[in-house]
Amino acid sequence: MTVKKAFIFDLDGVIVDTAKYHFLAWKKIADQLGINFTHEHNELLKGVSRIRSLDIILELGEVKATQEDKEKWLIQKNEDYLLCLVDMDQSEILPGVLPILHYLKTINQPIALGSASKNARPILEKTGILSYFDAIVDGNDVTNAKPDPEVFLIAAQKLNSTPENSVVFEDSIAGIQAANIGKIISVGIGEEKTLHEAKYVFKDFTHIDTHFIDILIHKKI
Ligand code: BG6
Ligand code: MG
Repeated sequence: MTVKKAFIFDLDGVIVDTAKYHFLAWKKIADQLGINFTHEHNELLKGVSRIRSLDIILELGEVKATQEDKEKWLIQKNEDYLLCLVDMDQSEILPGVLPILHYLKTINQPIALGSASKNARPILEKTGILSYFDAIVDGNDVTNAKPDPEVFLIAAQKLNSTPENSVVFEDSIAGIQAANIGKIISVGIGEEKTLHEAKYVFKDFTHIDTHFIDILIHKKI
């Protein structure tokens, strides 16, 4: 029997470099409100839902807001973010990602997306990689945001897998925690000092080769 693992990819910061666009759109709102919002603060927002991200920024600046204000800023943030995506194409896929997606397809390993974003589908379409994914679970499908493991557990289930037989690629602290809480093998994509809770950490996908994928396929958590 062929050994299978469910390979679950986060989107923002793992497949595409959209983290910088999220930052720019939030920074504009923070500036409007006179809140000092840095790249370091932005780490706290990675993997976190849109609404929770706004709350974190408001907490940083100790700004109290009405529900109406919050709704206005959430709309503005998403409009500004979407403007950054207008010209997006395959060139925005992060280095090394395509060869790994291709390898997984070639060896018949199931692939899912597990993202907090409600904009995930159009991004996969624009970058031309939608067809690699056997299942997509995004911000429209979950009630509990990362670090709750819900998004990854649904993804594993959609691929007919168990958490123990799944792997998550994540660039965010919240996402690594979600994978760990869900008892899924966590692979951090980014800086070791930020993602030290992950079982493995690589700077980016150019550091992940097919041999490592083969190891993951046969690995027990
Ligand atoms: C996550 C990002 O993937 O999606 C967060 O890391 C973002 O920064 C979240 O806030 C929600 O995304 P969206 O596209 O629904 O605003
Ligand atoms: Mg991410």
